[in-house]
Amino acid sequence: MVILLFTFVLGSIVAAYIYLTKNYNYWRDRNIPCAKGTLPGFGHTLPLLVMRTTLGDLVQRICDPYPDRSMVGFYHQTTPALVIREPELVKTVLQTNFASFSRNTWKIDSQLDRLNVAHPFLCYGDTWLISRKHMGLAFTTRSLKIFLNRIQQVCINLENYLNDKLKANNNTIELELNSLACRYTTSVAAYTSLSVENKIREEVRTVLAKYDGQLSYYALKEMTYIDQVINESQRLYPILPCMGKICTEEFELKSSDGLSCRIHPGTEIFVNVYEIHRNPKYWPNPEVFDPDRFSSERRTEIQKYTFLPFGEGPRICVAMRMAMLQTKAYLALIMKNYTLELSSKTPKEPLKFMPGSFLLKSVSDLWVHLKPL
Ligand code: HEM
Repeated sequence: MVILLFTFVLGSIVAAYIYLTKNYNYWRDRNIPCAKGTLPGFGHTLPLLVMRTTLGDLVQRICDPYPDRSMVGFYHQTTPALVIREPELVKTVLQTNFASFSRNTWKIDSQLDRLNVAHPFLCYGDTWLISRKHMGLAFTTRSLKIFLNRIQQVCINLENYLNDKLKANNNTIELELNSLACRYTTSVAAYTSLSVENKIREEVRTVLAKYDGQLSYYALKEMTYIDQVINESQRLYPILPCMGKICTEEFELKSSDGLSCRIHPGTEIFVNVYEIHRNPKYWPNPEVFDPDRFSSERRTEIQKYTFLPFGEGPRICVAMRMAMLQTKAYLALIMKNYTLELSSKTPKEPLKFMPGSFLLKSVSDLWVHLKPL
């Protein structure tokens, strides 16, 4: 009886092991470099499951041992997943062969969250097409101009709020940028723009003088240096450091370093945006904050598909223009009226990011001292 029980338990363990590791030769069989250290059932993603790391950091650690390879495989639990690292592959997946990679990896349980089930980011197929079309209607130039009236009102409220606080605190306040009613990008852009504050201020003043002091649609459009500063902030700190897609139709990926691989439906593809944005091959002195990379003269030097703050292709952020407008309006408002100085409470770079979050979010708060001009 004991022997029978022992054999049954052992057999179950062996069967479970075989089942949980059955896919783990997928990349080796296809001659694609693969991350070391697979754990049965967990693949390479245990640190993510227990929230010990961010998806961006995990993907980077998977890529680091293979600095010159364009693709690196790993296992998302038992599912084969592939990190792509060169612009030609990014173009193939996000744009040219979108039909084969049309799903995002992020999904929600439709029973638990009925509200977001039709959100374009989370759905696919016909539901995505319809939902994307509806949402796109909200971001036409006409809608943006209407929306800007609302942003202008929010800017006035923000200005009044800050002025009241300054009055009550001897004209200097310490503020946390993320809690300043700003979206993440605004806070990071405000944080990174401290080094070029005067140049932005000069632009804001010159343009506003032409537009009666109004942060109108055309005034914001003319503030091109702020665009450069926001772009450069997004290059260093992209909101989605790693974009995940699911293969929906079989496809052969071929890269410039001679790797080639037939990808099957269900395989996950991760675009390592954070790494591409800091790769010296595409960005000279990548760690330097240099908004002039995006000047009209130098912009043409930027290789296509190496700058992906809003994604690319048919799934590019539907609200990109609105998000830029809003970010510019907040930045222009702050630069017009106030000076910012980093507080000692803000840690020095490199910033650490929130484990478990798929968005790039600083662990520490970003504190600044704000004073009126
Ligand atoms: C500066 C702020 C923002 C940034 C950096 C940003 C960035 C992104 C990125 C990287 C994607 C993924 C693209 C892909 O999967 O290929 C995305 C998708 C999306 N974003 Fe944004 N976004 C911003 C603001 C917004 C806002 C304010 C809204 C809505 C009001 C919005 C709505 C969407 C939607 C609906 C999608 C899914 C599009 C699709 O899958 O068809 N985004 N965004």
